[in-house]
Amino acid sequence: MPTFHRRLERNAIGFVLAIIGVSAIGGLVEIAPLFTIHETVEKAPDMRVYTPLEIAGRHIYMREGCYACHSQMIRTLRDEVERYGPYSLAVESQYDHPMLWGSKRTGPDIARLGGKYSDAWHVAHLINPRDVVPESVMPRYGWLQRNRLRVDDLDRHLAAQRSLGVPYTDEMVANAAADAAAQASPDSPGAAGVAERYGEATNVRAFDGDPARLTEMDALVAYLQVLGRLTDAAHQQAASAEE
Ligand code: HEC
Repeated sequence: MPTFHRRLERNAIGFVLAIIGVSAIGGLVEIAPLFTIHETVEKAPDMRVYTPLEIAGRHIYMREGCYACHSQMIRTLRDEVERYGPYSLAVESQYDHPMLWGSKRTGPDIARLGGKYSDAWHVAHLINPRDVVPESVMPRYGWLQRNRLRVDDLDRHLAAQRSLGVPYTDEMVANAAADAAAQASPDSPGAAGVAERYGEATNVRAFDGDPARLTEMDALVAYLQVLGRLTDAAHQQAASAEE
């Protein structure tokens, strides 16, 4: 072998070709599966898009770095499925730009968090986690309850998401700011429009407990409550696998 390597290293062109050959294998392993991505990603005809309020909440989630401690991707391992529910499907994050799968879990995975707790629980937990989970090491986020939510730029956020393939209509983009306010104020005149544009399954509630004020807390809780709830595909697949 030493002589083979010596000969290879002395032959510059041969050595370059060998390097290209070896690194091409690594490239192929990464790239080739993408050619069949349309067959491998599951279909979810019931998939909904995030409402403007939920998108705003997602941005707050990113701003506050929640993803540094929470993943949003349940692996196919048995212990994860028993703890968190059906494993995550690729289609479930098809409208996540950027995706927030993560891998660091100082806290639990929250891919199927929506509906697990009440809004009031989330508000109390975000203001001071120790009030509801005494041994928690999660930081407090009390200012979310005080900060008014910025909505004037939500139409541009929706348009940006649309340019990445999320099917927002012109009407959704035009009404983004009004819909964000209406989703957190169930008795307001705009509330019906939110359900009309985003579907009857949309949560329209005073997420932070106060329908008169639109806060960052409203947006973040709206987002947390929709996690894992945009499509039923994973639950359906899990049910058919059991049969
Ligand atoms: C320093 C790490 C850390 C950061 C940052 C963090 N968390 Fe947590 N989180 C935890 C830990 C640990 C727990 C488990 C204890 C508890 O429930 O408080 C937790 C629990 C939770 C739970 C309850 C999950 C469940 O299924 O019981 C939610 C919801 C949550 N965090 C949301 C958030 C949000 C939203 C943010 C950002 C605003 C955030 N976390 C930031 C560590 C963190």
